Amino acid sequence: MTVSATARLAPIDVSGRLTRLRDLFESAGPDDEPVDALLVTTSANIRWLSGFSGSAGLLLVTRDHATLTTDGRYRTQSSEQLQAAGVSSAIEVRIGGVQAQRQALVAASSEAKSVGLEADNVTWSSQRSWGELFAAAQLAPTRGVVEGLRMVKDAGEVARMERAAAIADEALAAVLPRLAVVGAGSRSDRELTESRFAAALDHAMRERGAEESAFETIVASGENSAKPHARPGGRPIQPGDPVVVDFGAVFDGYRSDMTRTFCVGGAPSGDLATVFDVVEEAQRVGVLSVRPGVAAGSVDEACRDVIAAAGWADRFEHGTGHGVGLDIHEGPSVGPGATAILLPGTVLTVEPGVYLPETGGVRIEDTLVVTQNGSRSLTRFPKEVAV
Ligand code: GLY
Ligand code: MN
Ligand code: MN
Repeated sequence: MTVSATARLAPIDVSGRLTRLRDLFESAGPDDEPVDALLVTTSANIRWLSGFSGSAGLLLVTRDHATLTTDGRYRTQSSEQLQAAGVSSAIEVRIGGVQAQRQALVAASSEAKSVGLEADNVTWSSQRSWGELFAAAQLAPTRGVVEGLRMVKDAGEVARMERAAAIADEALAAVLPRLAVVGAGSRSDRELTESRFAAALDHAMRERGAEESAFETIVASGENSAKPHARPGGRPIQPGDPVVVDFGAVFDGYRSDMTRTFCVGGAPSGDLATVFDVVEEAQRVGVLSVRPGVAAGSVDEACRDVIAAAGWADRFEHGTGHGVGLDIHEGPSVGPGATAILLPGTVLTVEPGVYLPETGGVRIEDTLVVTQNGSRSLTRFPKEVAV
């Protein structure tokens, strides 16, 4: 058993979060109109506000009350998780079938003149049925209210992401020798395909305490490395290949995200060596630009300038990064012109890449937490290229 898998972390106390949410009610509606209540339907937002992680649940937060509804499968879990999160007296739990849950929510909202819905998570049909149910109230679309609060992580959240990142680092260290065997030209690992290597990495993360992989692990070798989001397939990894490995772990709900690109069998040469150098420099400069008070777009610009100076501006066709937390992609977006201001506790990735179909692709990615005067990387695997 490795260090990363041992020792439980203390539960995250979420009890202050409902107050912070209610403080936003004054301007949560369209044109900064107030809402009297918010119906939270996004599962990561429900978890963040209540500690409840079940797959089915609804949370209605009014100015002075909060009601979580779920079904009988989650009777015990919801009570345990709310207790652990310090909100068992702040959030009433109502268990029942779909209709009973809806009626409980309508009853809990009886004083609210306007009820906000999470517009980015509500389908057209459910908006219509909520409209019929909350007939006595005005429904208002809201956007990014809880997500905005989630952007700054507390110490418990950062500790979980650090644990996820450590699991991922250790897992990669455990399976990387298999690439070295390919590089040495040994017959014994001749059939190491992208899929097999990805499966080995996923398994190694689970063995070290990951709940699951943070997203579908990417292993892209040879010409596939030039496809930024290739899915691992049956291509056997070969000596001389660049291999992009983009993956992460989940620990207690929180995710990590890291990319390393290797060159199998020794240091790269020719144009591929230049691509490695440029991406390494872009990522290094991008990481150095991360500090509180800067706009996310300036981190993107720092990376993009290095790549443009090398003549490959048009070969870096994705954003530089994104926030990470309960979701693998959350705010802030780190792309051209992104205006979100980084704050201590913001967790984001820096992941520039250059993709040349005729040569290969390279991406390097770390997950960073913004500190009081800069940043700290949660992902720490060395950036040595040759395996
Ligand atoms: N593969 C997910 C990401 O790096 O954003
Ligand atoms: Mn990634
Ligand atoms: Mn990423």
